[in-house]
Amino acid sequence: VNRSVANFVTAPPIPDFKNRSRNVQPLTGKSFDLTQAVPSYATFAKIKAELAKDLLEGRVDFYTEVPGLLELREKLCEKHPLLQKSDANRTLITAGANHAMMTALMCLLNAGDTVLLPEPFYFNYEMALPMLGLKGVFFQLDAHKGMQLNARDLVAFLETSARETKALVLITPNNPSGACYSPQEIHELLTWTSPRGIEVIVDETYLRFDPNHLAEPKLRSYLGKGLTLVGSFSKSFSLTGYRVGYLVLSPEQFTQALKIQDTMVICPSHIGQRAAIHGLEHCESDVQFQANRMAKLAQQLQTRLAALKHFQLVSQGAFFAYLKHPFSTMDAETAAITLYRETGILGLPGTTFGKSQQSFIRLSISNLDENQLKEAMDQLVDYDQRVKGARS
Ligand SMILES: Cc1ncc(COP(=O)(O)O)c(C=O)c1O
Repeated sequence: VNRSVANFVTAPPIPDFKNRSRNVQPLTGKSFDLTQAVPSYATFAKIKAELAKDLLEGRVDFYTEVPGLLELREKLCEKHPLLQKSDANRTLITAGANHAMMTALMCLLNAGDTVLLPEPFYFNYEMALPMLGLKGVFFQLDAHKGMQLNARDLVAFLETSARETKALVLITPNNPSGACYSPQEIHELLTWTSPRGIEVIVDETYLRFDPNHLAEPKLRSYLGKGLTLVGSFSKSFSLTGYRVGYLVLSPEQFTQALKIQDTMVICPSHIGQRAAIHGLEHCESDVQFQANRMAKLAQQLQTRLAALKHFQLVSQGAFFAYLKHPFSTMDAETAAITLYRETGILGLPGTTFGKSQQSFIRLSISNLDENQLKEAMDQLVDYDQRVKGARS
């Protein structure tokens, strides 16, 4: 393993790109930051009220058990579409989903192993691979098919071009495309990967915004037998600052993961864990309200962007919209900067999510409320009508 990570892993791309866009002034005088996925709503008031009591009564001062509070693990499992209360004994609470993924990769793979990421990918997972001495192989998703996952195509790729693959990382609902994979496709994939000892790690960070996508009872029998879950409380309860997520493994893998957890963080943030407990206990209806609101936003976006003639909405979902820009000679970064200057909409260049993504821009639409989104999309449609230099 090359230990000097700084030499071969790119800088954190969001602050890097925002720095580069800093001296560009939108012509409209107004900007919409759709770069990083941050909920448009603050941590729910009920969580804060309960946390205030926890703080004053000294309930969050000390370490918790290494895997996290049993109460949290049990509550999480009880409310999860695939898990049961008894799965608490193989559920690890982590400092967010990124930490859960690093732990999963360390637990399930050996240095030198190959991991497949569908492209466009979530950049932090591509960055994780060389840090752990892992190799990446990339499977191009098809923009014409809305960046959907097709198990048959993926298996054909594994059989012909990526035979050395030991694990796949899938994200559904997806970042960056917003696409929600069909649970039947995931199941079909598992029927091929699991008997071959290939791990499928599913990142379900945006699960609560589309819980039906894992509602396939047949998936349960693969848990810990080729299917690993990585999740987060960051987005649903708006707890990005509290750093709390989870990882569901087999009981044997869980025992291994405790060693990593103890070495890396000892335990996840105690106050973060209490925040997640209060969220699960008191905020189901708030999450549902936000999920419905965001589904409506996505609908509103789709309707409004049907008017586009040059830009094209490729896919959209729980949190994100993926746009194809019309400038055939422009790289993704220049296109994203141009869009920002002309409309005030700051999205991330597609190349943040893979070298092949020059034609795309990702918009984190759920950063906005309804009125802001309408205003931003009006700007986009207006610009689309006067765009020059577009491919035909
Ligand atoms: C797909 C995906 N996984 C993981 C994360 C990180 O989440 P957390 O805040 O739980 O570390 C994000 C955050 O944007 C994400 O989009």
